[in-house]
Amino acid sequence: MPKILVTGSAGFIGFHTAERLLRAGWQVVGVDNLNKYYDPQLKKARNKILQRQPNYKFYKCDLADYPKLAKIFRREKFNKICHLAAQAGVRYSLQNPFAYLHSNLNGFVNILELARQHQVREIVYASSSSVYGDNKKIPFRETDSVDKPISLYAATKRSNELLAHVYHKLYGLHLVGLRFFTVYGPWGRPDMALFKFTKNILAGQPIAVYNHGQMTRDFTYISDIVDGIRRALAKTKKLDFAVLNLGKHRPEKLTACIALLEKQLGQKAQAQLLPRQPGDVLTTCADIRQAQKLLGYKPQYTLAKGIRNFVEWYKSYYRV
Ligand SMILES: NC(=O)c1ccc[n+]([C@@H]2O[C@H](COP(=O)([O-])OP(=O)(O)OC[C@H]3O[C@@H](n4cnc5c(N)ncnc54)[C@H](O)[C@@H]3O)[C@@H](O)[C@H]2O)c1
Repeated sequence: MPKILVTGSAGFIGFHTAERLLRAGWQVVGVDNLNKYYDPQLKKARNKILQRQPNYKFYKCDLADYPKLAKIFRREKFNKICHLAAQAGVRYSLQNPFAYLHSNLNGFVNILELARQHQVREIVYASSSSVYGDNKKIPFRETDSVDKPISLYAATKRSNELLAHVYHKLYGLHLVGLRFFTVYGPWGRPDMALFKFTKNILAGQPIAVYNHGQMTRDFTYISDIVDGIRRALAKTKKLDFAVLNLGKHRPEKLTACIALLEKQLGQKAQAQLLPRQPGDVLTTCADIRQAQKLLGYKPQYTLAKGIRNFVEWYKSYYRV
């Protein structure tokens, strides 16, 4: 079975991806620096689950630490890379821009450079729907212009796609970038709206609803995303170079998401209506025809079912 490097393996999407690959019999080497952007206990808990699997090996390492990462590449001899580590979050990029340069630019170039040196020719990496910025044409299509990002986070993700193209052209690496659209589900990220809303509703505290709830998101359930990643990993060589949307193609109003949460939790939210935050885009919607055609990607989960699963996990993990 192939040996794959999964970066960000203690993160939300990395954890689920590693778990799925282990189940399919892959040898997985996880790398994560377990940073404190959000509760590291949650990252450790995810990692602990992975560490129960004999085919999983974990290195605590910062991707920007080139010598340490180079040692891992020398020792492990990977067949493929699934690069999911990043400094995520749009709003935090206004507070701490340097964290994004560190992880998303330095870290990414280190991965590309070591992949080139060690002839790891198949790489799938995470991009983001945020590259579309405030584009007005809906749904967002891969061929749309993406040269007007409105957050530093988005600019680093777009830079990843451009850097990937350089390594493809110069060295023939096969690189597939996946633009994820608002991923949610069990073991999700505490800095994301659904998580924060759940926490506050259960605690009887108000929830901050930006742009007065007038935002729509193409919420995509984690299992659908992992399915897309797995398909991209199987076809990286054939695809050669690609950037694909992985979304649901079913945007929902933030208010609809809150209503589903209230129903699931059996409690009313106290909404605190606030203005739009700088960097936030108004709407996202993925055109997924390319992923359908090239990967056979077909998202299955409705928002209602996804939220039900998330709430079940949340209550059991936090013993509510
Ligand atoms: N969750 C979403 O809705 C979403 C949407 C679009 C794109 N993405 C992208 O998908 C990927 C995974 O996102 P996620 O939601 O799982 O986020 P996450 O924060 O849960 O996971 C990222 C992991 O990477 C690790 N990490 C960060 N910087 C690192 C570094 N320098 N060295 C080593 N490890 C480092 C973190 O500790 C974390 O465990 C990211 O690239 C993110 O930008 C996510």
